[in-house]
Amino acid sequence: MPDEMVIKTGEGKLVDEIYSSPVDQWQHNVRRWLILIPLLPLIIIVGYLIWYFTSDRTEYHADIQEHFKYGSIGSEPGGNIFTPVGGVLPPYLVFKTLPKVCPDKLPGGYASLGLIFEPGHDMPIGISRRWRLGVEQVGVNCAACHTGTVRESPGSQPIIVLGMPAHEFDIEKFFQFVLSCSLDDRVTADNVIAKAEESGDHVSLMQKLVFKTAIIPLLKLQTLSLQNRIGPLLNGPYPAWGRGRVDTFNPYKAVQFNWNLDELPHAELIGAADFPSLWNQHPREGMHLHWDGNNTSVDERNLSASLGAGVTPVTVDHASLQRIHDWIWTLPPPKYPFAIDQTRSARGKAIFDSECAGCHSFGGAKTGTVESLASVNTDPYRLNSYTYEFATAQAGLFPDSQYRFTHFSKTGGYANQPLDGIWARAPYLHNGSVPSLSDLLNDPADRPRQFVRGYDVYDQQKVGFVQDTPEARNAGFLYDTSIPGNGNGGHLFGTKLPADQKRDLIEFMKTL
Ligand code: HEC
Ligand code: HEC
Repeated sequence: MPDEMVIKTGEGKLVDEIYSSPVDQWQHNVRRWLILIPLLPLIIIVGYLIWYFTSDRTEYHADIQEHFKYGSIGSEPGGNIFTPVGGVLPPYLVFKTLPKVCPDKLPGGYASLGLIFEPGHDMPIGISRRWRLGVEQVGVNCAACHTGTVRESPGSQPIIVLGMPAHEFDIEKFFQFVLSCSLDDRVTADNVIAKAEESGDHVSLMQKLVFKTAIIPLLKLQTLSLQNRIGPLLNGPYPAWGRGRVDTFNPYKAVQFNWNLDELPHAELIGAADFPSLWNQHPREGMHLHWDGNNTSVDERNLSASLGAGVTPVTVDHASLQRIHDWIWTLPPPKYPFAIDQTRSARGKAIFDSECAGCHSFGGAKTGTVESLASVNTDPYRLNSYTYEFATAQAGLFPDSQYRFTHFSKTGGYANQPLDGIWARAPYLHNGSVPSLSDLLNDPADRPRQFVRGYDVYDQQKVGFVQDTPEARNAGFLYDTSIPGNGNGGHLFGTKLPADQKRDLIEFMKTL
């Protein structure tokens, strides 16, 4: 019996029968709870805020291809609002309105940087959305660097090929733009909200409040910090990466390891590499891959790629990465979409088998091993940008966790990789310095010294992308092979074959 219902007398206890009657007890309880009523709105508001700022929601695409194109891998900022981690892009509304807020910095919008837009989507392929930390965020996913387009002629519709190198995407210009516009004075909460509403987005009162009080000030701070670390690489005295290439490892030195880039040798900071293809990962398991063959595990290559996109162990979406892993495990290479001369191709197969298969076919004696630089003799910069110090630092990332890298090593050359779907992997070599298969089979002195990268009309004669028409020059990036890191020498295999045999060999390679 509760104490307050008992009236204590000197001798014994006198129970207040009326007070403790069931009806009275009920009333008493009600009165107790009534006290809470004035607090109720507060409780609801606090509950709502907790839900608002801690929920983590993203679109689910049952279709794996949609998931690959637009699904989140967890590269959006996450953690909690006090210590957010991960992510490299500003929130959705800011990201979407940047080209309208700074039109002088990107007159053609994101599409002009080679990002691929599909009808019915307001974000390009490779950009995912996720509600986190009380705001709709965006992130970079695998498709940004691993999806490209091909066209038969300037008048035809582009074919989107998933898993193909994003040969049109200028990721360096993309980040230069996002960083510089985010820091621009014109990026204010009012401006972003106005531009978003102009283009039909509904911005709730709560979102307006969040943008004004937190998002924009935080964005400026975080962008400044990112700019300080990665700016020297993006804007510094290093050759432009250009369309279809990224410096794979140097950004880690600044972003993950916080190394002072000024203290590193200049040459080490030149290392732009071509985006590779993602198909057929299962038969690649155990091979030395990445361009310099520095890793033998598909899972670690996937993980290291996702870190580059802004994923952290806190924000990672395991289920999503697993779906992509499973899909690229058996994804077949795309079939060559144009005509193939079967007679030539049959003759070419014999040449390929004798001259190339040992290094380039699944099951070849040297396939998946590293060919020494002395032997292949292609440009050394990408190889040298991955240093022993870097490999050691990488092994120390996430110690004692499942994320610890254990399959990276410093190598002395470039990988002998399978050539499946090679027609879609132009331009060729690790730095994308040779525009077509036909040029690769020429002596280096006869390969183009300058050519355009990032135009998607296909050259069925040379087997690569058209690189010397006015349209190509308009759309693409002018690549100069005389710049450090861009060398097109080496890989002399097949260059001495008679012209007719080269033709047959190229015809056969369309079928790979
Ligand atoms: C910022 C661009 C970018 C993004 C985003 C990206 N990758 Fe890559 N990926 C690359 C580059 C560049 C390489 C080649 C690295 C090198 O060797 O220098 C590569 C290599 C790979 C390889 C090894 C391919 C081979 O044959 O050697 C795999 C596998 C891979 N990426 C998977 C993924 C997955 C899975 C994702 C998403 C989780 C992803 N990548 C996201 C740029 C990217
Ligand atoms: C001794 C091994 C070896 C032989 C033989 C060889 N290659 Fe290569 N190949 C390599 C290496 C190593 C690379 C990577 C070089 C680089 O990226 O700098 C490469 C790269 C390539 C690439 C570019 C791949 C890409 O994704 O950009 C093509 C195409 C190619 N080889 C075709 C051939 C052809 C055709 C033959 C036969 C005539 C041949 N190779 C013979 C080792 C070899």
